Amino acid sequence: MLLPTDYWDESKIKVMIDEELLQEKIVQLAQQITDDYQGKTIHLLCILKGSVLFCADLMKSIKLPLEVSFMSLSSYGDQQESSGQVQFLSQLPPELKHQHILIVEDIVDSGLTLTKLTEVMHRELTPASLKIASLLFKPKKLKYPLNIDYLGFSIEDRFVIGYGLDYAQKYRNLPYIGVLE
Ligand code: IMP
Repeated sequence: MLLPTDYWDESKIKVMIDEELLQEKIVQLAQQITDDYQGKTIHLLCILKGSVLFCADLMKSIKLPLEVSFMSLSSYGDQQESSGQVQFLSQLPPELKHQHILIVEDIVDSGLTLTKLTEVMHRELTPASLKIASLLFKPKKLKYPLNIDYLGFSIEDRFVIGYGLDYAQKYRNLPYIGVLE
């Protein structure tokens, strides 16, 4: 059942990944990133809006010189299924040209968003390196093969909300990943 989005009833939300587990995993990913990028300045590209909490927590635990840029993309509209089209709601940040870029994404579903984005980035930014960190991945939905360099959790094919992820723009402020019951 879908919840209306204009009231707040957390009893209808089932926790899939709790706050403690999320934070533990993010610290582990940040440690891996810190080890892999020694001697380099890393440029995070935070994909708005869904990655905002993940990116904020991840960058706090990366112990390296770091810069962060933001980009707004949309593929879902207000639905629970991808529209099949990726809209670039903002331009590629020009400061990323020739840099070591790590894309920070909330979730890889069909893989379309990141396939399109990385194609354009390789062409227009000629990065020194380009990697992907994604908090979540739905392996059963993948249509566009993609290598996720730093992955938080593989999850079953359910529509999830919270920790930046929305349903019709709501629920991004939950500190955990949940499923609407
Ligand atoms: P893809 O292009 O099909 O890989 O979809 C990626 C984008 O779809 C993500 O960045 C999210 O914005 C959105 N998305 C995919 N699955 C979910 C979900 O379960 N909940 C909320 N948003 C999702």
